[in-house]
Amino acid sequence: MNSVDKIFAPALDLDNRLADALTWEHGGRLWPSSEQQTLTCCRVVDETHDIKSFEFRTADGLPVRFEPGQFMTVSASVNGQSVERCYTISSPPTRPFLVSITVKRVPGGTMSNWLHDNMKPGRELRAYGPSGTFTPTAAPATKSLYLSAGSGVTPLMSMTRASIDLGLNRDVIFIHSARTPADIVFREELSRLAKLSPRLRVFFVCEGVGDEADWDGPIGRLSLQLLSQWAPDYLEREVFTCGPAGYMNAVRGLLLEGGHDPARYHQESFDIGAGVAPEPAPAVKEADGACGTFTVKLSRSAKSFTMSATDTVLSAAKKAGVAVASSCSQGVCGTCKTKLLEGSVDMKHNGGIRDREVQKGFRLLCCSRPTSDLVLEL
Ligand code: FES
Repeated sequence: MNSVDKIFAPALDLDNRLADALTWEHGGRLWPSSEQQTLTCCRVVDETHDIKSFEFRTADGLPVRFEPGQFMTVSASVNGQSVERCYTISSPPTRPFLVSITVKRVPGGTMSNWLHDNMKPGRELRAYGPSGTFTPTAAPATKSLYLSAGSGVTPLMSMTRASIDLGLNRDVIFIHSARTPADIVFREELSRLAKLSPRLRVFFVCEGVGDEADWDGPIGRLSLQLLSQWAPDYLEREVFTCGPAGYMNAVRGLLLEGGHDPARYHQESFDIGAGVAPEPAPAVKEADGACGTFTVKLSRSAKSFTMSATDTVLSAAKKAGVAVASSCSQGVCGTCKTKLLEGSVDMKHNGGIRDREVQKGFRLLCCSRPTSDLVLEL
């Protein structure tokens, strides 16, 4: 352990200890990602012309326990249809009595438009508990590089706010990309936090100046040259990236080109359509079940259904009328995580479950296909 590590080791531990203290001293409880609660909107903040933050408290007023970088799956009835979407929590866990999500209005975006048009103080929303592995506590580091674009700033904002609240004074370089200066989310707050903490350095790069003719920052996209200028030691940093899939692909390419260790690269995106290719269904094998058909039993409800080996368990459950919480359907968000009590599945996920959860028997139903009869804890 070098001298810098020695200085930061207690601070890294402090993250966990303070999160525990905040939760338990105030009588809070864990809110599992499989459990829905009602949240009440307390405040709506206009962040930019098309991005709002929605702040919520729980119905029982208890604090919410989560890690910076995690997300919630919110659900609402939109035009008579039940819609669920994942949003990263932008508030820090150090302020656990409120949780906020920061949402960009997207053309044709069912949930984002509904939230922008309908969510007001006093209105309620159902949400599943916090989930996700895109957190600095999963990859502790003494030096970090946060890279975001657009509303991808939200998980990194939660991490930054938490670090400042805890007085950790972490060595963080935060580079945010935006279309124009007017599109920079949390611009003033990030600049203010950087003044508070000399070890937090914040940079913005914009594709164009828009209406801000006196913008004196760089114009264009993040390049290896800019990265080397702002974070000359980027090879030594743990990198956390969040943004649209195209942005993250470009960033990943830049870092690889520059020689950054891919094992120290972490990314998060719910821009799933462009970013994560669904796994093709495997060819049907002659399995134990009749012609690749298996039986799935549910231990809690005592229901059962049969399904094809080519179908995902989530899709088969829905066809059988079984309500299963889900959101991305791509093995990313973790919402459909369920304990497999008996049997085996072929799971091809995209980061929505941790190895230790798999070892404990959990599986993501949206990306799991049966290879035997199953019993699920549902
Ligand atoms: Fe997102 Fe299954 S629904 S991981």
